[in-house]
Amino acid sequence: MKIARFGRIGFILAAAGSAVGLGNIWKFPYITGEYGGGAFVLIYMVTVVLIGVSVMMAEMLIGYMGRMDTVSSFEKLAPAKKHLWKFGGFQALAGLFVMTFYSVVIGWIFHYIATSLSTLPSSVKEAETVFSAMLHQGFWTQLFYHTLSFGIITYVLTRGIKGGIEKLNLVLMPSLVLILLGMCLYALTLDTFAKSVDFMFTSDFSKIDSNAFAVAVGHAFFTLSLGMGAIMTYAASMEKNANIVTNTLWVVFLDTFIAILAGLVLFTFLFEYGSGPAKGPGLVFISLPAAFFEMGVLGNFFAVLFFLALAFAGLTSAVSLTEPMVQYFIDRFSWSRLKASLSMGLFFYLVGVVVILSNIKETKEYLTWGSKSLFDWIDFVTASIMLPLGGLIMALFIGFAVEKSRVASVMQPHLGFTFELWYFTLRYVTPLAMVVVMVNLYMEFFK
Ligand code: PHE
Repeated sequence: MKIARFGRIGFILAAAGSAVGLGNIWKFPYITGEYGGGAFVLIYMVTVVLIGVSVMMAEMLIGYMGRMDTVSSFEKLAPAKKHLWKFGGFQALAGLFVMTFYSVVIGWIFHYIATSLSTLPSSVKEAETVFSAMLHQGFWTQLFYHTLSFGIITYVLTRGIKGGIEKLNLVLMPSLVLILLGMCLYALTLDTFAKSVDFMFTSDFSKIDSNAFAVAVGHAFFTLSLGMGAIMTYAASMEKNANIVTNTLWVVFLDTFIAILAGLVLFTFLFEYGSGPAKGPGLVFISLPAAFFEMGVLGNFFAVLFFLALAFAGLTSAVSLTEPMVQYFIDRFSWSRLKASLSMGLFFYLVGVVVILSNIKETKEYLTWGSKSLFDWIDFVTASIMLPLGGLIMALFIGFAVEKSRVASVMQPHLGFTFELWYFTLRYVTPLAMVVVMVNLYMEFFK
């Protein structure tokens, strides 16, 4: 049983810290660039409002009522003789799988903080060479920073909910917002800010196909940390009589606000100093450093701040990705927090080393299957299979398995007349959307 609980602000910041991650600042801008801007942003926002909010409330509710690790919470709430539901809790494993590359990417960010202090690449071409040298040849560099990332994350986890996770978020989240707001103020003084607004909010639907649609829905889930038990695990430590509805709205608001803010800032810089809205995962590691170079010394300053913000966002998400399995071993096997944190940390650390090797020139071919690297495979299995599946299971669990009267007793007071609408969304809209999305993502991956 848990004793330490989040404070109200602590919970909102921790859940928002989980949601605001590499997904917002690294992935969102580049997929927005890839799928042509405004129309994509629109679909993403509509999904967040229509499906994201509903599923987040369901996931928080399971944690809040279950009060234990994800598997035990499912088990506790499932109707008698419906033991199979407890397997829904094993979604928590997805977080650990994501961590195997998430920690590696946080390592890259640390490396970029260090190099931004001295030199920035003078052109996109040079930036490309630098990035690819790190990725394909820099085994020791990546290992060093991956180790640092592992150390910080594991340390925070050993300190627990109050002394570790809540504290980390109370410091890093406000810092992150301040850095981005500061950069946004500067961006406002540039002429290209208007162009950036235009790019993100003017919809050109010709670039939207079913794949763009599936990517937008998938991203809405990823960015809100849904379907992996992260929000559920935090919610198990939510204070008594917490308001799940307002907490959800806060988290969703902060997550969306920061994604849009980051997008506006990045695109302004790229339009003003760089090569426009570059595509692909290299956006923040390639196009952006080259754009910062054009700004002179101020660019070094902004680069450091930006990568610092990115590291903060990544770290607060990383602890939430690992905590569900830590909690699982504490609750189910009575492991000490130290033992559970260290074991989970070591797991993602060691697999992470293999992930690094899967990009290194000499070892790459041994870690590639069907033209996809280990990195791609983990990303696919987690983001395209486990995550939508998790969302589906949670929606069905609250929608059909848990008695309606029980669900209503917690949610009705906060939702009022919108309760039925929420319930209907969980039962029919979400499952349908999830299945469509999964089919699309599979077809795209194996094309
Ligand atoms: N939401 C985080 C991001 O945007 C990633 C994440 C997914 C964290 C699932 C926890 C659980 O980067």
